[in-house]
Amino acid sequence: MTPVRDELWDRIRAEAAADAAREPALASFLHTVVLAHDKLEDALSYILAGKLGSDTITPLTLRDLIARAFEEDPQIPNAVREDLRAVLSRDPATRSYSTPLLYFKGFHALQAYRVAHYYWCADRQPLALWLQSQISQVFAVDIHPGARIGKGIMFDHATSVVIGETAVIEDDFSMLHEVTLGGTGKVGGDRHPKIGRGVMIGAGAKVLGNVHVGEGARIGAGSVVLSDVPDYVTVAGVPAEVVTYPKNAHPALEEEVEVLVA
Ligand SMILES: CC(C)(COP(=O)(O)OP(=O)(O)OC[C@H]1O[C@@H](n2cnc3c(N)ncnc32)[C@H](O)[C@@H]1OP(=O)(O)O)[C@@H](O)C(=O)NCCC(=O)NCCS
Repeated sequence: MTPVRDELWDRIRAEAAADAAREPALASFLHTVVLAHDKLEDALSYILAGKLGSDTITPLTLRDLIARAFEEDPQIPNAVREDLRAVLSRDPATRSYSTPLLYFKGFHALQAYRVAHYYWCADRQPLALWLQSQISQVFAVDIHPGARIGKGIMFDHATSVVIGETAVIEDDFSMLHEVTLGGTGKVGGDRHPKIGRGVMIGAGAKVLGNVHVGEGARIGAGSVVLSDVPDYVTVAGVPAEVVTYPKNAHPALEEEVEVLVA
């Protein structure tokens, strides 16, 4: 049987080859991390293991653990591709698929979280917590491995992002740096936000408690959200209030929810 072509991986290889020809100082690096690999999963596990490996779990062992998660849960490779597409389509500063794969710590942290979540669900919580700690130290992104995150996700810049254990994020979500999806500190149990499909959260915003942020909603930079947010509205301020309503009753059918990022 002829193997199915992976057009996204073909494109990443072509981008890396073009960059290697153009910039000799990066040629060896681009060969080692992209061109030497047969598939996207191999390149990504090499990159993540190189960044997150330590004396405790070496890059070689970690690479095997990451590769195993990719093999055993096909939703991860699928999400990786959707996340790359999300970054390219929503971030005007990104013009190639290879850029997030090689350089964006938001993308790296998200994919490493996906591996940690896999081991959390596979009843290997100590390993998942070690991964969370490494991801937090290396990328300054602290995502509890029990959190549930969909696909088509963009964490732009990503420094100082915190996502709590019982948070749930649906598909097509975008978020800037310094965002917290946390608890209020007043209750235990299911205590973190639930974020609907297509939501955008601006830089520095904090969403606290088991509140629901509706589909397609936008949260302004620097806001503090303490209560439910209806579908498709924009909220801003401290505490956040609705500042913009959708132009019509069915905004999802009329226009794509716009995302504003640097
Ligand atoms: C909220 C946001 C998405 C704009 O949404 P919008 O629906 O187009 O809203 P508008 O710009 O029309 O503003 C509506 C009102 O909210 C206010 N507002 C907008 N953003 C706000 C914010 N972050 N905090 C407080 N008030 C804000 C505006 O001043 C305006 O107030 P007014 O009606 O009294 O004049 C945008 O302001 C934002 O915060 N984007 C995040 C981008 C980001 O994080 N960038 C970082 C890149 S590194």
